[in-house]
Amino acid sequence: METVRKVGIIGLGVVADTHVKAVGAVDQCSLAAGCDLDPERRAVLGVGPSFYTDYREMLECEQLDAVHICLPHDLHQPVAEACAAAGVNVLSEKPEAVTGEQLRRMEQLEDRYHVQVGICLQNRYNETTKQLLEMAGSGAYGRLKAVKGIVTWHRPAQYYENAPWRGSFARSGGGCMMNQSIHTLDLMQLIGGPIEAIHGTVSRWMDYPTEVEDTAGARICFANGAEGIFFATVGYGDNSSVEVEAVCERAVFNIKNYRLTIRENGGEERLVCTDRRLNGKTYYGAGHEALIREFYRKLNGEAGSYVTCREGAVSVRMIHKIYESSLKHQKVQWGQGG
Ligand SMILES: NC(=O)c1ccc[n+]([C@@H]2O[C@H](COP(=O)([O-])OP(=O)(O)OC[C@H]3O[C@@H](n4cnc5c(N)ncnc54)[C@H](O)[C@@H]3O)[C@@H](O)[C@H]2O)c1
Repeated sequence: METVRKVGIIGLGVVADTHVKAVGAVDQCSLAAGCDLDPERRAVLGVGPSFYTDYREMLECEQLDAVHICLPHDLHQPVAEACAAAGVNVLSEKPEAVTGEQLRRMEQLEDRYHVQVGICLQNRYNETTKQLLEMAGSGAYGRLKAVKGIVTWHRPAQYYENAPWRGSFARSGGGCMMNQSIHTLDLMQLIGGPIEAIHGTVSRWMDYPTEVEDTAGARICFANGAEGIFFATVGYGDNSSVEVEAVCERAVFNIKNYRLTIRENGGEERLVCTDRRLNGKTYYGAGHEALIREFYRKLNGEAGSYVTCREGAVSVRMIHKIYESSLKHQKVQWGQGG
């Protein structure tokens, strides 16, 4: 009989509902408990799971196999480390960490504590993403020339008022990049491969009470010669579909509105595949359920997969480089340990 893993969720805010539903839909795990400082958040768990206000008490009392960390960004690494040290596997929401030092500690967790630590970059599990990576990376369409990632979303001032950590640089590590478009940066580096240099700018165009950027752009120079252009804002009037494009010598691949299309040799656009739309907000992408299923399959020794801390760290380092470039007003090299 299949092993069903006992799961706890730490942080029962906005994203937690997506985890509750995804855990409920995956046979390999079941929700045993949840934790939030705010007792009113227990409602997210529904009937059945135990509720705690102290995650350490939850770890002591519940004999969990894994925790999902859905906390403000600055808490991901310390809480992940406390869970790993208690022998509990971890699935952390993105970004895995805020500072360079936190990233390094996350990258060491698995070796140090012999647990599985995965990062929630769920868009990797979208059918459109998988197909684009396979087709553009196959070499069948020639050399990769260009990669584009565009995120134009809407977050009102109230979004930051409701959870002030989101507007604090120390707590969130950044705005529209760390919180929203990190998924798109992650896909861009998966498509483009190793990065050589980044030239970027970050801005605050909106009248939001925040320290963090609401708008950012960057040129990403890949080591293979391909050029990337990235733009993200949360100051748009709506949550548009993210757009990701990869241009090879003989074909243009484009993901938009949950559809992957191909245009070969300047011909007609043709549909390759569409993404399934699951529970949760559609602009998060539909991959949480797929990512969680794969994580527990892998934990059970089956043919699964997960995004490791080393893989998840690349997009955080891209954001660090965009800040550095913006501050210096010049292109910065990816460099050692980049
Ligand atoms: N993968 C995605 O597409 C996606 C989408 C949305 C949010 N997220 C991520 O999910 C995480 C949470 O974001 P959110 O918007 O749900 O935040 P939120 O502010 O709505 O929720 C965070 C919750 O954590 C609780 N909390 C804070 N400190 C705590 C502690 N020490 N112990 C227990 N609970 C504590 C808060 O009371 C709050 O309920 C972030 O990392 C965010 O980037 C990911």
